[in-house]
Amino acid sequence: MNTTEVLTTFLDFYRERGHQRVTGGSLVPPAGDPVLFTTSGMHPLTPYLEGRPHPLGRRLVNVQRCLRTTDLDDVGDSTHLTVFEMLGSWSLGDYSGPQSLRWGYELLRDGFGIGPDRLHATVFGGDGQVGLDAESLQTWAELGVPVELTREDNWWSNGPTGPCGPDSEIFVWTGTPPPCGTPTTDRRWVEVWNHVMMRYRRHVDGSLERLTKSNVDTGMGLERLLTVLQDKRSGYECDVFEPWLRTVSGLWDLDEPSLRITCDHLRSAVVVIGDGIRPSNTGRGYVLRRLIRRTLTAMWRVDPSRTLADLPDEPVGHTVAHFGQDLDLAPVRHALLDEERRFRQLLHRGRPLVSRLRSAGPLSEEDISYLHETHGIPRELVVGGLLADD
Ligand code: SER
Repeated sequence: MNTTEVLTTFLDFYRERGHQRVTGGSLVPPAGDPVLFTTSGMHPLTPYLEGRPHPLGRRLVNVQRCLRTTDLDDVGDSTHLTVFEMLGSWSLGDYSGPQSLRWGYELLRDGFGIGPDRLHATVFGGDGQVGLDAESLQTWAELGVPVELTREDNWWSNGPTGPCGPDSEIFVWTGTPPPCGTPTTDRRWVEVWNHVMMRYRRHVDGSLERLTKSNVDTGMGLERLLTVLQDKRSGYECDVFEPWLRTVSGLWDLDEPSLRITCDHLRSAVVVIGDGIRPSNTGRGYVLRRLIRRTLTAMWRVDPSRTLADLPDEPVGHTVAHFGQDLDLAPVRHALLDEERRFRQLLHRGRPLVSRLRSAGPLSEEDISYLHETHGIPRELVVGGLLADD
């Protein structure tokens, strides 16, 4: 199944069961939210999970783009992405957890064609405050899906306070059949979907209050699901990344982690720009600046003459269309190239600084930190010798 088919299958399944699609989906959270970017599908729905009536009703479905700044330094490995998408469904005080699990099972089996013998679930086993999630355990037993009980791994919250609750995660076996072990003992069980029984609100003192209405909040990472359905080793190999991987690897010779960083960061930068952010020294703009400069650092480590001007429209247009962003490509390209120009100027100004420090002897760790923290000159470019000559 390609990405479009997966998205259509997911949205249609929930629409047929009375869910309304939430509009929007921007990375920029609603006004008043202190967080820089939307971090999960439920994030923009927090007030409604806490009890406010939603204008679209009590059954919702959405595809939400997300960005977790805490993950930025991990991008480059095979699993982390800067911008990723979450498929989500919500019952706002409507149907219960067991119904959500049953629909989840049905969609994975009949909609996405995953054999039930490849499924495993985990369920909240209870702790000092909240008891075992017996309803979920019972539901999985009726469906014939094996269950592992855990504590911390099966409790979901968006932060230290706010709506939270026990969850049940669905894993798919990705090794050769037959499956063995359990999700906590064998990494070939890959988590695809989390169903949270959002029944509580946590207060500052750590106490839990029962919410007036019990909700269900589910989230499934699109790229993770595609990796499983398309039988790939990582999200980068799925069709959603294909235009980037093909174009970037054709343009610039990069090692594997640098290729992933370049594809991920350029694609993410396009989405962030498309949501109205421009590079700056603070907040969201600073995250965007870091994405573009980290890309350029990876490109220039080998050859500083490389330029984003060589990037064709195709991958940029593919991403803008995929995320349904209504904008021309010209301002996106302009933002990327303008930031490249600023970064080049910064490095140009940094060269005499580096030469001066070098004339006093080999650069110390302290010199490298100073260049990075005070002047924004990346360690990789200093250590790689690209700033050696004035
Ligand atoms: N809130 C849960 C998550 O982000 C399910 O949507 O995993």
